[in-house]
Amino acid sequence: MVQVKSAYWQNVVDEAQKHPAVPGLDKIPFFSMAPMEAVTDSVFRRVVAHAGGPDVYFTEFTNARSITHPKAKFTAQARLHVAKGEKMPVAQIWGNRGIDFETASQDLKEHGYQAIDINMGCPSGTIIKNGGGCDMIRHFDDAATVIASAKTSGLPISVKTRLGFNELDTFETWIPFLLKQDIPLLTIHVRSRKEMSKVPAHYEYIDRLVQLRDELAPHTLLQINGDVKDRTAGLELVRQHPGVDGVMIGRGIFENPFAFEETPKEHTLEETLSLLRMQLDLYDKFNADYGPLNFKKLRRFFKIYVRHFNYASDLRIALMDTKNTTQARELLDKFDQQWAAQKAADTIAITQDR
Ligand SMILES: Cc1cc2nc3c(=O)[nH]c(=O)nc-3n(C[C@H](O)[C@H](O)[C@H](O)COP(=O)(O)O)c2cc1C
Repeated sequence: MVQVKSAYWQNVVDEAQKHPAVPGLDKIPFFSMAPMEAVTDSVFRRVVAHAGGPDVYFTEFTNARSITHPKAKFTAQARLHVAKGEKMPVAQIWGNRGIDFETASQDLKEHGYQAIDINMGCPSGTIIKNGGGCDMIRHFDDAATVIASAKTSGLPISVKTRLGFNELDTFETWIPFLLKQDIPLLTIHVRSRKEMSKVPAHYEYIDRLVQLRDELAPHTLLQINGDVKDRTAGLELVRQHPGVDGVMIGRGIFENPFAFEETPKEHTLEETLSLLRMQLDLYDKFNADYGPLNFKKLRRFFKIYVRHFNYASDLRIALMDTKNTTQARELLDKFDQQWAAQKAADTIAITQDR
């Protein structure tokens, strides 16, 4: 079993062992929710936690320079806001200048963050033009510099990356290079930058990645990311690829807000819609503190909760036309009344049939 040098990540590993034993696995992997820009803010993290969340959360990525920049500080604060009672997430940052990582990581530490992750996998053209995300795969020196600079804070510094920029086989140099940076956790989205998310994740490389880790950095945890839809699928992946320590899930949460629950079960419509109501309420509070937020961005979440039941598409279409949370709540109330009336009518019909 990997002995991690970071107390934070060792604790994550230890806590994961408290989940029920899984046949065929000596060690239970930890699960994390992937960092997702405009998705995994404090509001959504709390909703996911309510639905049976993962062991670890990551914030959406934040530009390292913006964290202490006088003009960008307020937006960065919104991205990095952590609510009272919320499990402290890992802060994910991006950039390419050492000095920015030194100041950002110090600031994050002062704000109570206990771990930092560096984004070396974002495929976006804008981020790459600015030397961040996947561009690091073409600039090993920058990668080493930002890791070393972030480490000056004393916090554990992890990295999330892809297998390569254009070619997949560059991972044979890129991943060993990262493993030699003495980091507690390496998360690999098993695709190249060029592939974006358009091809199936390359699970065929996982055993080689485990081998590299075992040879070069036995103290580094290895987390796999890409196309894992829920906890059950993640456990199966680890069963097939022993040595993987953690599984990160991103888009799976859009299909199923209960993706992380220990024992998958059917959820009632009331349960699912109550998650949406929770998100509306938390959004209002967040909007009061950091707004005005763009309501259109919130609307993109509605389809997560409004699916797989009769009339779901009608309700979803109506919700997509709302302009604010009050209208959305009114619609949900109206739907509840109609749903109750429909259920009562069905019951009467069944009784009459007898
Ligand atoms: C809407 C969206 C936003 C994302 N934002 C980030 C981000 O801020 N940082 C990051 O490292 N990856 C980001 N990603 C990539 C995911 O973290 C993850 O690597 C990718 O979705 C593959 O995992 P999945 O198949 O489980 O979704 C984003 C993905 C999506 C869909």
